[in-house]
Amino acid sequence: MKQGGKTCPVLLIKLGLVTLEKINHVLHQSESFSLRNELCESRFHAKLVSMRSRDNGCIFLDFSDMTTADTPTTPDATKSDTPFMRVIKTYVLRAGRMGPGQTRAFEQFGPKFLVPYAPERLDVAAAFGRSAPLILEIGFGMGDATAKIAHTRPDDNFLCCEVHAPGVGALLKRCGEESIGNIRIVQHDAVEVMDHMLGENSLDGVHIFFPDPWHKSRHHKRRLIQSAFVNRLAKHIKPGGYLHLATDWEPYAEQMMQVVSAESLLKNTATDPSGFAEKPAYRPLTKFENRGLKLGHGVWDLVFTKV
Ligand SMILES: C[S@@+](CC[C@H](N)C(=O)[O-])C[C@H]1O[C@@H](n2cnc3c(N)ncnc32)[C@H](O)[C@@H]1O
Repeated sequence: MKQGGKTCPVLLIKLGLVTLEKINHVLHQSESFSLRNELCESRFHAKLVSMRSRDNGCIFLDFSDMTTADTPTTPDATKSDTPFMRVIKTYVLRAGRMGPGQTRAFEQFGPKFLVPYAPERLDVAAAFGRSAPLILEIGFGMGDATAKIAHTRPDDNFLCCEVHAPGVGALLKRCGEESIGNIRIVQHDAVEVMDHMLGENSLDGVHIFFPDPWHKSRHHKRRLIQSAFVNRLAKHIKPGGYLHLATDWEPYAEQMMQVVSAESLLKNTATDPSGFAEKPAYRPLTKFENRGLKLGHGVWDLVFTKV
């Protein structure tokens, strides 16, 4: 569909998310409305022009004036003449409750430790106030392991991404109260941070500890560790730099091993025939992990280096 010389997207939406009743209402009222696209959990604001066809419980809807409040996901999507493309998010933002300490931490320590997301290259040395080996952490949760590792490795800079605000507040609080100078936090999708803010061959290491396992098979598409992402990640790691993954979900550990082993830019450091590594000493045992281990649950570490 052409709109003002640009191609407007056509979305495929499963019935049940947008009810026929709502669609009919919108068609008759010709109003703009917002909806959720199940595949990428993004909110779109769009004007529905027509309902083109129907097939197996799905309908095609033509929209005009489509905009989204979210930032584009690929660098190309920032160009106005590029067809609208989205990728599946590895998280779902939930309205978590912020404790008063976490809220205060944003005000008190945010200016020092938060790096705002921007779709442009980050001046890393300026952000940390020094040049040092750079480790990217993706999805630090409440930041317990992150803070401990930063204490253990004072000579490294840790750029840590998390989308969950209470977790960001919790780590900010620790950074401020424990004077952890070698952490900077980006409260944003790490995939976009990597793609837009970091250059190729810029990372000395990457930590991804216990990424969401997305247990149900229909949600596997949300898992972070997938070939295309790992290839982009590998390009961002310097030769000799490392990728460290850990998970307590065996099927995900197997997927990780398969995907990362297939990446030609990466080489396994493990000597065990299973391919899994000994837990490196710098990664602390979290409370959650300790509890699991006592119950006999496994944890799998993968440590690969860039060739
Ligand atoms: C299961 S938690 C693990 C947290 C922590 N690493 C730990 O070991 O306790 C996974 C975290 O990754 C975050 N996350 C998932 N996808 C992300 C992304 N693309 N960018 C930033 N954070 C992400 C989630 O918000 C969640 O807090």
